[in-house]
Amino acid sequence: MEMANSWTADLTSADVLQFAEGILSGESNCIANLSNLAALLGQAFRRINWAGFYLREDATQDLVLGPFFGRPACTRITPPKGVIGQAVQMAQTLVVDNVLDFPGHIACDAASRSEIVVPVIVNGKIVLVIDVDSPEYGRFRSDDQMVLEMLADKISQAWPSMTWYQ
Ligand code: SME
Repeated sequence: MEMANSWTADLTSADVLQFAEGILSGESNCIANLSNLAALLGQAFRRINWAGFYLREDATQDLVLGPFFGRPACTRITPPKGVIGQAVQMAQTLVVDNVLDFPGHIACDAASRSEIVVPVIVNGKIVLVIDVDSPEYGRFRSDDQMVLEMLADKISQAWPSMTWYQ
């Protein structure tokens, strides 16, 4: 059975990147932009149960929960824990086909079976990660990785001009 929320759209990779471009160019506030990007990912990817961001906290180097689509999730991940911590430690995309077999996987949603984590790197430092989970084993393929890595590049380019609330 196709698992999709009722408002899942048929978006191509090009659509996703074009919408992302629009989001990032129309506003500079970090939370506003990441919130809309999380909603976009939740809408664009079929058969997923979670999509969102963990942001690097300067003081601790932990990854702290940011805007997301899905169920409430763990708030803080200390590398090298979890799929996220491993991706951060290796500073590269990590695709896990079966999270139940991944040592140290952090199960925020017990329904998750596969996961992809893509770091966003600015001036050689990871500032945040994109994390998408699926209830289906082996859900994430090279085309998914490619679109998420292109999104990571767009976020990275926009990052220096992002603002907070002060
Ligand atoms: N599964 C992740 C934790 C974050 S949740 O999936 C939203 C991990 O193992 O790092």
